[in-house]
This record gives sequence, structure tokens and C-alpha cells, in this order.
Amino acid sequence: MLKKNTAIERYIEQHTTQEDHLLAELNRQTHLHVLQPRMVSGHIQGKILEMISYMIKPKFILEIGTFTGYSAICLAKGLTDDGCLHTFEINDELEDLASDFIERSGYTNKIVQHVGSALKLAPNLNLKFDLIFIDGDKREYPEYYKMAKELIADEGFILADNVLWDGKVIETPTPTDLYTQQILKFNQMVQDDPDVENVIVPFRDGMTFIKMKRKNNTITN
Ligand SMILES: C[S@@+](CC[C@H](N)C(=O)[O-])C[C@H]1O[C@@H](n2cnc3c(N)ncnc32)[C@H](O)[C@@H]1O
Repeated sequence: MLKKNTAIERYIEQHTTQEDHLLAELNRQTHLHVLQPRMVSGHIQGKILEMISYMIKPKFILEIGTFTGYSAICLAKGLTDDGCLHTFEINDELEDLASDFIERSGYTNKIVQHVGSALKLAPNLNLKFDLIFIDGDKREYPEYYKMAKELIADEGFILADNVLWDGKVIETPTPTDLYTQQILKFNQMVQDDPDVENVIVPFRDGMTFIKMKRKNNTITN
């Protein structure tokens, strides 16, 4: 099965627009110089984020978890001309690498890097976001969701990465496994939320797409 999955992944890579040179270099630099490089979005997920952003054409994007800036650069591509992406990263050691690549991407005017916890700082921006990408500490996902509900625009979208957590969501977590416990709590919160429509898309580690329901939604046949 593993062999087949790897072959399918290779096939998908071969039939997806090539990763651009800058992102490929960022991917490489992340693997060479940063701890836990697997956290980087990478080619396929990056392209998916880029496509979603092009489809939504957001004016304001909030990203929780800049890491080395890969997903921020991908998401920034779909912003409106006057749009802006605010990205938050708690680990200040990543700031220089991310800002170097953001500068080289040509999106310096559209991506604002913030160092510190998104939970503390994002509400201070006093903005409503058309797209929110949740990709920070898995133990904080329920808190991110509560905040995202406050900060999302009326018909905005929330994306949350790693919601299948390496398949652990279908096992019983140990009492000390706060990561799985909080991902499970987040997934249930979203599922029980009457304000949204949601779907888990099973690529990579699973990503939930969440759409705020229209106010006064009526069903017409
Ligand atoms: C999975 S990585 C993000 C990957 C990046 N979005 C990408 O796709 O390339 C998660 C990052 O979230 C950061 N983080 C954790 N808690 C945070 C918080 N409360 N606010 C902002 N960033 C946080 C971590 O330091 C880590 O760099």
C-alpha cells in the first residue's frame, strides 16, 4: 500500500504545475537549516493553497504559523491588488529566513510578518479576514477556532491543516497526548458549529475547509 501511495504521490507531482524556483529553494533551505522541516507546506499543498486563494480573491488573509514563509507566499498570490496577508509566527528564530524569501518573492508590500502568538496579537489588528489559515500549534486549535470565528468576514473561509494528525484521530489518544486530544476537540467543534459548512479534504495530513454560512440563508430549488 505504501509503495502505491508513493507512486501516486509521484504521479501527482508530475502532473501538477512545477514548483517555482524560489519556492523550491525555500523548500530546500527549510530542509537544510530548520528543525522539523516536514512542517513546510511544500509543492502540492502550496499549489492547492495558491489555487484556493486565487478562487476566493481575498482582500485580507490571516495565517497562524508562518514557519519559513512557504504557505504565506502561496496564499499571497490570490490577494486582490489592494489586499494584504498578516502572518504570525511565535518562533523568532524563523523570522530572517522567512523575510528573506518573502522579499525575494516580491510580496513584501502584501505580506506583513508578525512575531509572537497569533492568539495574543491578531485581534489587535481590528480587521475582518476573508480567509484564515490555521496552521500553528495543534494543541491550540480550539482556541484558534474561537478566535477565527471572531475575526472572519461574513462570508469568509477558514482552512485548518493537519486535522487527520497522521491518522491518530481514529485512535483513542493517550492521556498525555495533548496534540491528538486538541485536534479531536477542534474537529468536533467545527462539526457541531451551526454557523458553518465544513469538509475534511484528505490530502497529506488532512485539511478542513470551513465556509461561514450566509446570514438569512434560504434554500431554493
Ligand atoms: C506547521 S508550521 C507552519 C507551516 C507553514 N504554514 C507552511 O505551510 O509552510 C507551524 C508553525 O506555527 C508556529 N506557532 C505555534 N504556535 C503559534 C502561535 N500561537 N502563533 C503563531 N505561530 C505559532 C510554530 O512555531 C511553527 O513554526
